[in-house]
Amino acid sequence: MNYILSIDQGTTGTTAVLIDANTMNFVDKLNKEFPQIFPRPSWVEHNLNDIWETVEHTVKQILKNNNITSDQISSIGITNQRETTCAFKKNGIPLSNAIVWQDRRTSEFCNSLSEKKDYIRKKTGLQLDSYFSGTKMNWLLSNNENVKKAYENKDLLFGTIDTYLLYKLSAGQSHKTEASNASRTLLMDLETTEWCDDLLEIFKVPRETLPEISDSFCNFGVTKDLSFLPDGIPITGILGDQQSALFGQAGLKSGDLKCTYGTGAFMLLNTGTEIKESQHGLLTTVAYKENGVAYYALEGSTYICGAAVQWLRDNLEIIKNSSDIEDLARKVKNLDEMEHVMFLPFFTGIGSPYWSSDAKASILGLTRDTKKEHIARACLDGMALSINDLLQAMALDTNEEIKTLKVDGGAALNELLMNIQSTISQVEIIRPKVIETTAYGAALASAIGAGMIKKEKVLELWKKSDSFHGNKGETSHYEMKKEKWTHYIKALFL
Ligand code: G3P
Repeated sequence: MNYILSIDQGTTGTTAVLIDANTMNFVDKLNKEFPQIFPRPSWVEHNLNDIWETVEHTVKQILKNNNITSDQISSIGITNQRETTCAFKKNGIPLSNAIVWQDRRTSEFCNSLSEKKDYIRKKTGLQLDSYFSGTKMNWLLSNNENVKKAYENKDLLFGTIDTYLLYKLSAGQSHKTEASNASRTLLMDLETTEWCDDLLEIFKVPRETLPEISDSFCNFGVTKDLSFLPDGIPITGILGDQQSALFGQAGLKSGDLKCTYGTGAFMLLNTGTEIKESQHGLLTTVAYKENGVAYYALEGSTYICGAAVQWLRDNLEIIKNSSDIEDLARKVKNLDEMEHVMFLPFFTGIGSPYWSSDAKASILGLTRDTKKEHIARACLDGMALSINDLLQAMALDTNEEIKTLKVDGGAALNELLMNIQSTISQVEIIRPKVIETTAYGAALASAIGAGMIKKEKVLELWKKSDSFHGNKGETSHYEMKKEKWTHYIKALFL
């Protein structure tokens, strides 16, 4: 039997997934978390060696757990946390920690460019915001001595995580990225899907340090000199993780919509070959590129979703495992008990649709009888309310009422959260059979790139698992919460 190996390199961990190459059925997954580094408030970094170690570990272990030999891997797909910026030498050695997409250190630099923001938005589909990689490359070149020196010595390579993993997997043979990842850098012209000289000049990023931009399904290179995989396995599919989830949800047609509940939450709407400009705070991004043709999406990006649960687990220690939040929140039997409790999960600023870099998280409306279960439930409410803002913006931009929402990602396993979302947003929530949609999307991309399947096969492979219709009895409570939510955001951050 042959398998496709999909590597999903996410913000908090790496997941290796095996897919049966004949049936495209999901076989197994294995995840390993790695440390988050917070050198200062609002800074977030990852050690690239830690990330690489989780890739090695999860791949080795999943093969072992399934009694599969590495020569049974027919191709590899990569999907990754987007925007996170890596600087490394030509021998693959990192020059610094990666600056993570959530890191806000370049906010002031963005403010200094504010007169160019409309031009940048038109060219890239993105906001001028520290979220995106170009600002982080600029910071590394201006502030990191190793990076500066490597640049002087012509030994500096930049990339997003896909690029770094591909470079490592191919022993430096392949310095490439693909269009959905490149569309998150602020350096790519959305129309041509090529690096843009004007943007490179604005962000002062030298072209020769950047990877080549490829289609999403193609031969990116082959494995070489690895201790855990043989030479010659082709890497044939790469997608940014949110675009990969859209693909895994069979979101191939214009109008297809999904929301992934990961570290952050990201809602993508396929707009086909049209570059649709948002009037309501969404981004325009590449969904995927095939045979030289780019397909686009509107995107709503919320920086914090599962990360808020992680904060309750790691910082407040009111739950032991992330999944415990559901049982804790279910202890609230009467929502009147927590009428005033609001959790605004803006630990790393607010993304779509408000774009407030300086916003901070808050818990409001506490009284002496507030208990940890109220905080847990308010946290789930805050996640759903953030996502509801994305849905509202999508409805306004498309001028269409949204009736159903496909969901995936770790926090989509939380059935209470799914019902809260359905009540708040008044939509039917649909979960697919394969909830590891992000990794599955990259496996499908790899199968297409390797010529094993045609794109249309993806439609056949998607299967519904279940759906959620909310709780009518809670509608008026959440109508009140929605009003409070908007009021607080406006009063505190805008
Ligand atoms: O844009 C950031 C996004 O790609 C991160 O995804 O799943 O790691 O929250 P995730």
